[in-house]
Amino acid sequence: RLYGPERRNSSGLDLSQQNVRDDIASAIRVFRDSPAIAAGAIVSGKADTGGGELCRVPFHTETVLGACKEASEEAMDRALDAAVKFQPEWDKLGGPQRATHLRAMAEALESNMPRLIALMARETGKTLNDGIAEVREAVDFLRYYAMGAEKDFAAPVRLPGPTGETNHLSLHGRGVFCCISPWNFPLAIFTGQVAAALAAGNTVVAKPAEQSPLIAFEAVKLFHKAGLPVNALHLLPGKGETVGAKLTSDLRVSGVCFTGGTNTARMINRTLADRDGPIIPLIAETGGLNGLFVDTTALREQVLDDIIISAFGSAGQRCSALRVAFLPKATADHLIEGLIGAMNELKLGDPALPETDIGPVIDAEARDMLEAHLEDMKSRAKVLHQIDAGQIGREGYGFGPALVELSSLDQITEEKFGPILHVIRYDPDDIDEVGAKLHAKGYGLTLGVHSRLDSFYKEVRAACPVGNTYVNRSMIGAVVGVQPFGGEGLSGTGPKAGGPHYLHRFAAERALTVNI
Ligand code: NAD
Ligand code: ALA
Repeated sequence: RLYGPERRNSSGLDLSQQNVRDDIASAIRVFRDSPAIAAGAIVSGKADTGGGELCRVPFHTETVLGACKEASEEAMDRALDAAVKFQPEWDKLGGPQRATHLRAMAEALESNMPRLIALMARETGKTLNDGIAEVREAVDFLRYYAMGAEKDFAAPVRLPGPTGETNHLSLHGRGVFCCISPWNFPLAIFTGQVAAALAAGNTVVAKPAEQSPLIAFEAVKLFHKAGLPVNALHLLPGKGETVGAKLTSDLRVSGVCFTGGTNTARMINRTLADRDGPIIPLIAETGGLNGLFVDTTALREQVLDDIIISAFGSAGQRCSALRVAFLPKATADHLIEGLIGAMNELKLGDPALPETDIGPVIDAEARDMLEAHLEDMKSRAKVLHQIDAGQIGREGYGFGPALVELSSLDQITEEKFGPILHVIRYDPDDIDEVGAKLHAKGYGLTLGVHSRLDSFYKEVRAACPVGNTYVNRSMIGAVVGVQPFGGEGLSGTGPKAGGPHYLHRFAAERALTVNI
């Protein structure tokens, strides 16, 4: 059941190699020098482009990278009809055959890595290292779910029964899955959702985030070119409140897979509850108010490294990112001094340059929200440090990573999506009480612990149970099949992406009893 160890994760690209840097640089030049990309819906393999929302480069907002035409009502209708019609054929194909398609899709991504990394750097401000990790993760999802399709969707499982009776259990696609993805993993999560739904025998209508339609457009074209039947996957870009709301309320949709904010998940849940037709599953992966607890036995240099990468890597725009670090009163001053020193070493700048650690935030709305939160913290807490956003601040959506000291956990109630780290002094002897207070906020995504005592991390984990706990390492970058990823409570419904139970939620189980 654990889909391994015969599967190997993608090896990605090594940015320390000159030829790799050259390949990515030339892909970036191609985007820089080419006319703006025209994207839009892809229904039954046909693209409907021309006009639409402009896609600006978050690092340099005067530069227009492309434009995306929102999917029309008519395009949505055609996509849903075609997906409904093709689904029985796709389901009948069987797990092993569908796995072959998924593997071809993985190959297509792997052989276009420099172009995909360059496009993500331009469209979403991803650094090159983040872009490499992103393509790897997308490839890993495809191969992992291919293995799941082969193992669990190949043939019915025979079950015991009395003499003269045979019992079988089989897994099938539910119908058409609507996959709604966020901009912060515009390729990995987009692909992971689609891959899981397809592996389980569903056809898919996919709605990427409005901030990142171009990479999704590119991926769907590659998947179709790699042989995926055009009616198995349709792309319907556009706004959440228009295209997303229409798709989730349509009775032709038999399941929704969503990743994004907690409030959006609630909205989708309400839409599904209001439908008159069948009751269908919602798989929702949402945000976190993720904490990290340090005790006095922890190794200072390791703590500093792991806090910096967990809080500020990817400009803090990961659901797994560290939001509140709990520092022991006895060592807090020394740790804060180290954090400020380490923050000053971070290189903010053009995400397309290999030396850049942190690029822009995604858009003006994200920047304004972070600025407003920091202003609020100035009056209610203590802003200890903020790095100047430099060139990105002048030409793009720049927000310099910031460090805020809270005097009480009551000063923060919800996820603030970006590079702001809150720290709070505590007494590790009170871990049960402090951990429970964090848990009471209702989220349950990631948790970090730094300690050399096993007893300490066990206490933290018991006080504050979450989906993914990391001890003495960073708390971002879950690996497919190694750290199945996803949370509880306000952080999502489960099951975990990249884990052995994920595909089952996309499937209908059917039992057959024959009495001879
Ligand atoms: P968002 O909720 O604003 O948007 C996510 C998607 O939902 C987009 O495609 C959007 O268009 C769509 N949408 C919005 N309103 C909708 C509606 N009414 N009906 C249907 N669809 C609708 O989130 P975001 O800003 O794109 O992403 C950031 C959030 O995602 C953060 O909260 C982050 O923590 C979370 N996230 C979670 C995970 C995870 O695995 N748990 C991973 C990545 C991001
Ligand atoms: N899966 C992503 C991570 O672990 C969100 O950082």
